[in-house]
Amino acid sequence: MSDSLVRTETRDRVGIITLDRPDALNALNSQLMADLDSAARAMDNDPDIGCIVITGSQKAFAAGADIKEMQPKDFAQVHYEDFITDDWEAIAHLRTPTIAAVAGHALGGGCELAMMCDLIIAADNAKFGQPEIKLGTIPGMGGTQRLTRAVGKAKAMEMCLTGRTMKAEEAERAGLVAQVVAADELMDRVLETAGTIAGMSLPAVMACKEAVNRAEETTLAEGVRFERRSFHATFAFEDRAEGMAAFNEKREPHWKHR
Ligand code: CAA
Repeated sequence: MSDSLVRTETRDRVGIITLDRPDALNALNSQLMADLDSAARAMDNDPDIGCIVITGSQKAFAAGADIKEMQPKDFAQVHYEDFITDDWEAIAHLRTPTIAAVAGHALGGGCELAMMCDLIIAADNAKFGQPEIKLGTIPGMGGTQRLTRAVGKAKAMEMCLTGRTMKAEEAERAGLVAQVVAADELMDRVLETAGTIAGMSLPAVMACKEAVNRAEETTLAEGVRFERRSFHATFAFEDRAEGMAAFNEKREPHWKHR
């Protein structure tokens, strides 16, 4: 079996997955996506991991789906053999919170992979874009949908139709990224945020993530009803009792489920 195209490590309840295909600027081929999928699922099932960070290199988070792998395929192969399978969407379905730590190019499938994460923290050298139109195709890993939800129709349409890239500062202003940080501080700053999340009660974090994500998939009335039921359900959590008791007793909470 070939070497994995991702590296994994765990630091203080934070799982870190590094895309590791530097010669191709982390272009997403079938092997890399299978390696990412199995690493992410293993971390999602690990109760000692409270936040998952996905990152690349200083030069590229990922420069898109692998054009060399795609180029010879015809319609029958991509459609019936299902190129870009549900497994390529796995990151969007993890229960553990995920952060994309993005430096350099996040293009095409790379931008789409970052947007599958719960939040994006970008280095000041990050560039986001959906350049598929320049290849005579369109985004295929959710770009037309998630970018539109993140930045609105005007900018999403402009980026998808012209292929222009968006620098980190514009991406923050547009709502695509949560924070922009100096490139050489990216992982330190990401690990601060990831550590904060991983230090919360895991059932509460999972319920919160699920409720926020529901906002992208349903009507306001349904979303508010879903949130209220989830809020009620947190009253079954031991950690909810502990969190409120700790506040009233003026002490730090001791989470049972982290
Ligand atoms: N697929 C395959 N290989 C890629 C790649 C990709 N998406 N992006 C870069 N590479 C490879 C290059 O072919 C090159 O390999 P060789 O040395 O073997 O020639 C190597 O990575 C380095 O790339 P460059 O020499 O081009 O590096 P650069 O610094 O001059 O340019 C770049 C960087 C602007 C990101 C440029 O590589 C580029 O434009 N890449 C393609 C970006 C793109 O079009 N992405 C969308 C892909 S389609 C897609 O993602 C569909 C979808 O939604 C699922």
